[in-house]
Amino acid sequence: MAALVLFGGGGDLAMRMLLPSLYFLDHDGLLPDDLKIIGAARSEESAAEYIAKVRETCEAKAKADNVWDEAVWKRMEARLDYLAVDATSAESLKPLKDKVGQGSVTSFLAVSPSLYAKIVTAMRAAGLAEVDDRVVLEKPVGRDLKTFLEIDDAVADAFSENQVFRIDHYLGKETVQNLIALRFGNTVFEPLWNAQNIDHVQITVGETVGVGDRWPYYDEYGALRDMLQNHMLQLLCLVAMEPPSDLDPESVRNEKVKVLRSLRPITHDEAERVTVRGQYVGGLVDGKLVKGYDEERGQDSDTETFVAIRADIDNWRWAGVPFFMRTGKRLPEKRTEIVIQFKPLPHSIFDYEDGEPQANKMIIELQPEEDISLTVMNKKAGLDSRMQLQPIKMSLSWGFRDKHDTPPRRRIAYERLLLDALKGDSTLFVRRDEAEQAWKWVDEVSEAWVDGDVKPQEYVAGTWGPDGSDMLMARTGRDWNTTDA
Ligand code: BG6
Repeated sequence: MAALVLFGGGGDLAMRMLLPSLYFLDHDGLLPDDLKIIGAARSEESAAEYIAKVRETCEAKAKADNVWDEAVWKRMEARLDYLAVDATSAESLKPLKDKVGQGSVTSFLAVSPSLYAKIVTAMRAAGLAEVDDRVVLEKPVGRDLKTFLEIDDAVADAFSENQVFRIDHYLGKETVQNLIALRFGNTVFEPLWNAQNIDHVQITVGETVGVGDRWPYYDEYGALRDMLQNHMLQLLCLVAMEPPSDLDPESVRNEKVKVLRSLRPITHDEAERVTVRGQYVGGLVDGKLVKGYDEERGQDSDTETFVAIRADIDNWRWAGVPFFMRTGKRLPEKRTEIVIQFKPLPHSIFDYEDGEPQANKMIIELQPEEDISLTVMNKKAGLDSRMQLQPIKMSLSWGFRDKHDTPPRRRIAYERLLLDALKGDSTLFVRRDEAEQAWKWVDEVSEAWVDGDVKPQEYVAGTWGPDGSDMLMARTGRDWNTTDA
């Protein structure tokens, strides 16, 4: 028998993402028949009470996707169990060890990262870190390089690296994996994927949600540590990495870590020029008046809810190609996209509908839609004496765009990652040296902010961040993408 233990099994991540993901996997027949799923948390409740809550969340999500099936639920229910534990105490974990029996155990730590070190130490003492066992760590592991290493060293005392699965849920998103397919499954793009042809790259992760009652966590981290250190640098790696020789976890991660190592450090003198910090004040989002971050927090705070950064990658492929990244809460749209902006025409011989030739642009959209599109110039139909060109967008999305196909259900990113962790495939997980390099680079930025006393600039909720963000681009003669994929 194999077992999946969800520490923090009654918390927000488990209830909103992990358990519904497991239901969907069970629905599609993808979970091992003998897999037990055990919720473990502090709350003194019975297994029946816990299972009733799990049913509620799974039923709501599955009904929204039209895949609720009582027979599947019966199967899932039979897998489920609950145990009230203090996960930081080996003594308290003993009954859990008895419950999981002899098979391999995958433990998902969906708890505050400040508990990771204590929990893995207790797991080791309780016999839950045997050679076939695995541990899955939700981000953020640490809040800087020093705390990351402290936690990760405790993890390394209990588990070897191939047993450790550091999750970045962006890597479980379908379009992110499709980016790998696009780059390395085709010959047409790769010859263009370099400084000779690409002017710059933009990565935007815009969210309309505010921080709300997550502020006790968020105030410690801010947008730089919550989003840029992990999700955005992972996207940057996938755009910038060299072709791996195969899809073996080590081959892919070796290439990603080389990109992180090539990121030019942001010096203290440069920080004001190439980074922007912002914090939202009250405004209108989706037509509703929302509070500013300070008001949600209940007092003034210097935590950034928006960050924009220009990164440079010092290697042959990307010399002179800036990578602009921006992310923020309370922006006008929930929108995640990567824009590959190609260089302008060296010489134009045509007339243009709007007077200007437009350089080719590839937009890889992760949210709200999943799409990859390429903008090319095309002749405007007609008998004008001078040929007129206009931009058209070609969607490279997969086959379900055929009007007769039903689009596949949009999976939760955790489905893929839970399945891979259960199988022991770490390709889509972050290796220790990747996290280490990412923290190193991000620490330089946060130290520069502290040293230079760089405070967040205000932006009104419902706008695309502070003016500094547009200026970051304008200084280089560029601007943020405003066209849809
Ligand atoms: C999480 C961050 O990792 O990602 C949140 O902690 C953020 O602050 C979330 O809202 C965004 O994820 P997604 O998949 O909705 O883009």
